[in-house]
Amino acid sequence: MNLDEIRKDFPLLRENPNLCYLDNAAMALKPDCVIQAVDSYYSKLGVNVHRGVYKLSYEATDLYEEARNKVAEFIHADFENIVFTRGASASLNLVAMSYGLTFLKEGDEIITSELEHHSSHMPWNAVAEKVKAKVIYIPLNAEGRITVEAFKSVLTDRTKVVALTYVSNVMGYVTPIKEIIRLAHEKQAIVSVDAAQAVPHMPIDVKDLDCDFLSFSGHKLCGPTGIGVLYGKKELLEKMPPIEYGGDMADTVRKDSMTFKDAPYKFEAGTPIIAGAIGLGAACAYLEKIGMDNIAKYEYMLKEEALKRLKEIPNVVVYNPSCETGIIAFNIKGVHPHDAASVFDKNDVCIRAGHHCAQLITNWLGVYGTIRASFYMYNTLEDVERFAESVKEASEFFDML
Ligand code: ALA
Repeated sequence: MNLDEIRKDFPLLRENPNLCYLDNAAMALKPDCVIQAVDSYYSKLGVNVHRGVYKLSYEATDLYEEARNKVAEFIHADFENIVFTRGASASLNLVAMSYGLTFLKEGDEIITSELEHHSSHMPWNAVAEKVKAKVIYIPLNAEGRITVEAFKSVLTDRTKVVALTYVSNVMGYVTPIKEIIRLAHEKQAIVSVDAAQAVPHMPIDVKDLDCDFLSFSGHKLCGPTGIGVLYGKKELLEKMPPIEYGGDMADTVRKDSMTFKDAPYKFEAGTPIIAGAIGLGAACAYLEKIGMDNIAKYEYMLKEEALKRLKEIPNVVVYNPSCETGIIAFNIKGVHPHDAASVFDKNDVCIRAGHHCAQLITNWLGVYGTIRASFYMYNTLEDVERFAESVKEASEFFDML
């Protein structure tokens, strides 16, 4: 990885050399190639796909479908497995509202965890309420991790769905998802993986994982906002009904009947997110060039360096010291995370503070919220230093009060 070259690719970093951006779990910055791909679609084409019977529309359609192929290749899927959505939340909701409401019934069990983002467990809570199914939470271990043993303790013949995060957006822990999927399949349960924090930061192979569904967002992997992906196994997507109806997804429509296009198109009602998908394709190509293994190793190294520095600072409580990705969840003793955040902002260090849309794990930790620093491949050891200095300043400032 050539860090200087990578940093030059990001206009926000070029134009703000003083910016220390450590809120990558919320949103990744955008490289030139993504901005140019979006700009080029709008300036050279800017017309609709799948409908127009003219050259510009054919060209736009090609770009949109090439993006689907690129995204598929990025996670080792086929184009027919890739549904474009508004984001990971929309993808996770689609699975619950389509598969869940159609195939679950009273007494069925849905396994999830307290490590989930709201978008991962809330749709299943809503489905469970409607069909009278039961939501079961995997007991987390002392560190707050999902273990295979704990999963086995809640897996039963009544388990029909397992909805789990691959990488927690608060703790950064990696779920042993492959083994969990294997065990769930032994019980004929399907597994929906929230991979919003995994796909941007590590190599993903959906065929190797054998997951049934996998959801992620574009904006966390250097792509545009408003685009996301639902990967689904073909046989499952085929038997699921659409949850939105309208333009482009229909096949034959009569007053008393309607049929739909095959997946993935039956799940993409209305004019699709054309520019978003094209930008996301460019983002996948960009990350692939750097190498997902390189990115994973580099972020972990930065996080470990930051942890070393945090250990030297009084009053700092780190909640996930053994985390295997680039996320640090911490607090300064006795200080509300939002109060501490003001010191970081003053120093142009961007972090997130609060419950991170994952209130179950915040409750599990027994805190109001946490401060989260999350690294990406354009961060530097200097960023680590700036971050540590801000933690020290916040610790000393609030200690004096
Ligand atoms: N889910 C995103 C986060 O963790 C927004 O910050």
